Amino acid sequence: MVAALGGLARRLGRACLRSACSRRWASTTTTTATKPSHPANPSPSPSPDHITLLGTAYPRDRWTNVSPSIQAKLGRGLLTVPNHPLRIIKLRIEQYLNETRPGTDPLLAPRAFAIVDSLSPVVTVQQNFDSLLVPADHVSRQPRDTYYVNQNQVLRCHTSAHQVQTLREGHDAVLIAGDVFRRDEIDASHYPAFHQMEGIRLFSHDTLAKYNPEIAGSPIFEQAGSPTYGETAAKQKSHTALAAAVVERDLKATLDGLARHLFGSEIQVRWVDAYFPFTHPSWEMEVLFHGKWLEVLGCGVVQQQILSNAGVENKLGWAFGLGLERLAMVLFGIPDIRLFWSTDSRFVSQFSEAAALNPGANAVKFQEFSRFLSRSKDTTFWLPSSGFEDNDFFELVRSIASDLVENVQMIDSFVHPKTGRTSKCFRVTYRSYERDLSHEEVNLLHNEIRNRLAADLKVELR
Ligand code: DAH
Repeated sequence: MVAALGGLARRLGRACLRSACSRRWASTTTTTATKPSHPANPSPSPSPDHITLLGTAYPRDRWTNVSPSIQAKLGRGLLTVPNHPLRIIKLRIEQYLNETRPGTDPLLAPRAFAIVDSLSPVVTVQQNFDSLLVPADHVSRQPRDTYYVNQNQVLRCHTSAHQVQTLREGHDAVLIAGDVFRRDEIDASHYPAFHQMEGIRLFSHDTLAKYNPEIAGSPIFEQAGSPTYGETAAKQKSHTALAAAVVERDLKATLDGLARHLFGSEIQVRWVDAYFPFTHPSWEMEVLFHGKWLEVLGCGVVQQQILSNAGVENKLGWAFGLGLERLAMVLFGIPDIRLFWSTDSRFVSQFSEAAALNPGANAVKFQEFSRFLSRSKDTTFWLPSSGFEDNDFFELVRSIASDLVENVQMIDSFVHPKTGRTSKCFRVTYRSYERDLSHEEVNLLHNEIRNRLAADLKVELR
């Protein structure tokens, strides 16, 4: 934990580009109960009692905060759109793990990884958090950060939500891909819906012994009471140091190879200690790309309790999770995360999955097909004494301006020395990828945002 907090402090000043970002998980727990910290945003749904997601009606309650603009994103199925860059990255990862890697790894049968990519993003709080040992008072559970369907169900905030169920089905190696949802800021690399891929691999005593014959005659688990039972920086309490080391080595070799498969054999890779509630030890993998270290994924040795809960207590395992948008933006040079959702054929037509899956293929570079004028507008207000979350403001902006908003940035904040009230000023930048926006249209949107700010979030406009 100490290392994790150090890592967190180091990382606080850095942008987290939608990858498997341990900042979300490393944050310390909240001190308040996990009740909604604010009333849910009112949404103009036809039914006040139910919210319909992917054809299923779910009861609403005071936790419900899934907005209509997010509702509209469900079921878009970007990973199934032929030649879509997110699909290409997914296929490249599957290709590496199921075809390329076994060539260098005699123990892994070709096609060993089961592909799980059509699970509903509506999951239980138990799946998304409890099954992964996320503490009951952890900040990630707050409705400020997570989309609640109701108090028992959420839109998954990571594909890790399906770890236990897929392991229960008996898979020893699995890749899980899908759309995930987080309430977040607005800029070129943050979007409340994005895509992740999760990989898990389990090892029995026999498999570990094949990797390291020393293991054959010795146990892979420590018994309580033994002097070597206990957690260290390198292992969980019930793992032997040797078994944990073999799992760590395979995890790092696998992901190092994946980075080379995606970015080319020359890429430089480094490992940074991290913290996730569901793994120990945990790391982030970073790659040196155009002179900058980029965080690409989070990974670690799966907490043994998760494996026990999934009925596979005799095995050890590793897992990783990565953000597909981030990889696609870097590899194809895609400048804005909204483009992935574009229905303009000039976007997808630039990519070819057949070409990208050719061994040794160089990633094509995205060519901007339009760059329309951006228009920025500022809005300044006093915060209400009842509390204010920036994410509620971002959500409100999205619910009104949708994909016409490119960026929202807080440009000023101060506390009035006499009244103690806080004032914030946000700059909203509007730009369409499809056409020029007129002054009138932007004014209308902006006024609507200001009206709703006052009415729904109870701020005092200045
Ligand atoms: N679920 C994490 C996230 O979304 C990413 C992650 C980290 C997945 C470590 C893993 C893991 O499976 O072992 O930020």
